[in-house]
Amino acid sequence: MSTVVVVGVQWGDEGKGKVVDLLAREADIIVRFQGGSNAGHTLVVGGKKTVVRLIPSGVLHSGKVCVIGNGVVVDPETLVEEIDTLQQQGCLMDPSLLKISETAHLIMPYHKAIDIARERLRGEGKIGTTGRGIGPTYEDKMARGGIRFVDLLDDDIFSEKLKRNLQEKNSYLSVILKDQTLEYQPIFDNYRRFRDRLAPHVTNTSLYLHNEIARGRKVLFEGAQGTMLDIDHGTYPYVTSSNTVAGAVCTGAGIAPQQIHGVIGISKAYTTRVGSGPFPTELFGPEGETIRRKGGEFGTVTGRPRRCGWFDAVVARTAARLNGVNSFALTKIDVLSGFSTLRVCTAYEYKGKRYEEVPASANVLEQLTPIYEELPGWSEQLTDIRSLDALPANTRRYVERIEQLVNVPVKMISVGAGREETILIRPTFF
Ligand code: GDP
Ligand code: IMO
Ligand code: MG
Repeated sequence: MSTVVVVGVQWGDEGKGKVVDLLAREADIIVRFQGGSNAGHTLVVGGKKTVVRLIPSGVLHSGKVCVIGNGVVVDPETLVEEIDTLQQQGCLMDPSLLKISETAHLIMPYHKAIDIARERLRGEGKIGTTGRGIGPTYEDKMARGGIRFVDLLDDDIFSEKLKRNLQEKNSYLSVILKDQTLEYQPIFDNYRRFRDRLAPHVTNTSLYLHNEIARGRKVLFEGAQGTMLDIDHGTYPYVTSSNTVAGAVCTGAGIAPQQIHGVIGISKAYTTRVGSGPFPTELFGPEGETIRRKGGEFGTVTGRPRRCGWFDAVVARTAARLNGVNSFALTKIDVLSGFSTLRVCTAYEYKGKRYEEVPASANVLEQLTPIYEELPGWSEQLTDIRSLDALPANTRRYVERIEQLVNVPVKMISVGAGREETILIRPTFF
């Protein structure tokens, strides 16, 4: 296999960064294909924590090429900051190791202003976005008014598009959203500086990937967010504004379907969600608090406490089907040590009907009853364990039950945040 896709199967923060960093040692090229700096992927290597937002999680390995595909929406300010931070750590010293698609769309200051102002107006009904301008940028892309890297490279084109957009956005901001307007010149000047920094990286990444895959190079595609945040298949409207499923690799990186060879689904051994929206297995009492504390469940980007709940096999099953998941990586199982009993949601029930897959209506999702199965817990600490056999019997039983319920084999178990704190059941994924 020469290409592998890694996707989250829940509501994000499944540990994609950790798994991609681990798998990246086998890969030549690591690619982001959707989302933007709403993502926060954490890598822990040698006890040192690094958070990446836009740059693929393979960046800590020397000599790997990192690609930001056309499907990503890029806040150039965040990207420049991220490059600076990584270069201070000795990464990305060779400019050819970072490639940015010339057709990726730019997040502009008015996108962020609109995102934040709209959320404020929504009040209680807010989506709980990260406030990074993601939705408004994808809206402009679809409305065909967006600004792409290729536009940024030409001063006249960029200036004209910025002026036109700013006129429209300023009236929307002031009249509808009752917010402040933005000035042209500071934005133009800032973006010209970003252009000077980023221009050497801008290229036709679709063609680059095509040629490299043809040469047999190993490519890892790194999803952001999770399947339940997918704009089409997630818990709409409490979703992000991009397709997060594996199929989005084709559109978001510009490669053909035949060029995808395997899909790894990442799932926590329990469930979390940050922001608003339905969450059937959410825990409101001390058990949820214990998971939050032990799992350090606070948002990587916004610092918000993550909502915590039991493992939901309905969510994982639906996501496995949508993504064509071949194998699962189960993360944060170490966090579950100490519970005498664990619960796993096997199906939902609503008005006498049983659901084996996630229903479309947010209203139904809010009101349904999860059907639980109880499994015995374990007290042992798992972080130092490196083989399946060495896991406590009840932990193995928990993993096996998840495999049965979702009908996908678990091929990797993560027992800690560190790169090496992993049980690799399958030795290689390429
Ligand atoms: P991502 O967005 O999917 O990359 O996930 P995040 O980085 O936002 O959140 C996952 C968090 O869990 C990070 O703080 C990781 O360092 C941490 N983490 C990942 N895997 C494990 C694990 O197996 N055990 C523990 N305790 N922490 C983990
Ligand atoms: P990673 O890649 C968890 C959530 C937000 C909000 C909704 C919409 O780290 O897993 P947006 O800013 O995208 O318009 O917000 O999506 N969200 C995430 N939740 N992990 C993420 O990324 C997320 N990216 C967006 O909290 O509920
Ligand atoms: Mg995250």
